[in-house]
Amino acid sequence: MTELNSIALKILQNGKGILAADESTATMTKRLEAVKVSSTAENRLLFREILFSASGMTEFIGGVILYDETIKQESSKKNRIPELISNMGSIAGIKVDTGAKKLAGSENERITEGLDGLRERLNEYYKLGAKFTKWRGVYNISKSHPSKLSIHSNAHALARYSSLVQECNMVPIVEPEVLMDGDHSAKECYEKTSEVIKKCFEELIIHKVDLKGIILKPNMILAGNKSKNQISSEQVAKLTLECLKNSVPSEVPGIAFLSGGQSEIEATENLNLINKYNDTSFIMSYSYGRALQQTALKFWSKDINNIEGTQKIFNHRAKMNTLAAKAKWSKELEN
Ligand code: 13P
Repeated sequence: MTELNSIALKILQNGKGILAADESTATMTKRLEAVKVSSTAENRLLFREILFSASGMTEFIGGVILYDETIKQESSKKNRIPELISNMGSIAGIKVDTGAKKLAGSENERITEGLDGLRERLNEYYKLGAKFTKWRGVYNISKSHPSKLSIHSNAHALARYSSLVQECNMVPIVEPEVLMDGDHSAKECYEKTSEVIKKCFEELIIHKVDLKGIILKPNMILAGNKSKNQISSEQVAKLTLECLKNSVPSEVPGIAFLSGGQSEIEATENLNLINKYNDTSFIMSYSYGRALQQTALKFWSKDINNIEGTQKIFNHRAKMNTLAAKAKWSKELEN
């Protein structure tokens, strides 16, 4: 087993998942302002440190994706944040893309940037304690989207990123996110997601990326959030499995879904059914941002000194998702 493969497995084995706490300062500001907390560096750290030091980290969270600001911050006990995470028995990772910008040559589509100077930044993050990284390509569905241009250019960037990350001895999370925004059908989501993922692997192979040393972070197959034809969780699970079976090479050790705007319960229920029907060799787990943090953040915003109460909510959510990653979740366990 290669070192990268063993890191990937360590992050996702035994139902463990990933806490995506890598919101950029702009995104975190939106999240905090929505619950009326002022977005200062101290407050951003305060909330995150509460999660990172929760007991659920040890049992349920195999990896935490950090943002540049957080990986360089110190905890209230004067630990570096990656050190705090590793003391809890988890692994620190880092988002290394610099965001999705307007794609020249296409209306309303975006290309993810951050390749310039990436090798140097990766070396710095490695020294700070990161063992894995994340890069997110984003695609929207409409009649003419995602365009060939967006599919090609984002896959190319994801592959160049992955190759650099492995050169620096870290595991790249490859995240091609087909957004749920719009009125498209689940069938369209299935077709577009298949095309996007296949293209990503074509490029990863050209760039000689070791597929045993990556984690794929895809969207689930859903109908658009404005579609009148929503599908059941059973259908989500079956379509998602079929899509991944047909587009992901079997060497890939693990798949960790993004939540992408699903509610906490939806994200858990869908993951549970995916695992119930999983007849592939892939580990199927979670890398959730909103679906792990939403309720905890809302609770915390009402009393930012209530650390214990906030951690209790986070621990519960992490536990529910880990049960779902083992197909052992049921609605009754939510109460
Ligand atoms: P969500 O689970 O909130 O979609 O966030 C995951 C993520 O990392 C998006 O890039």
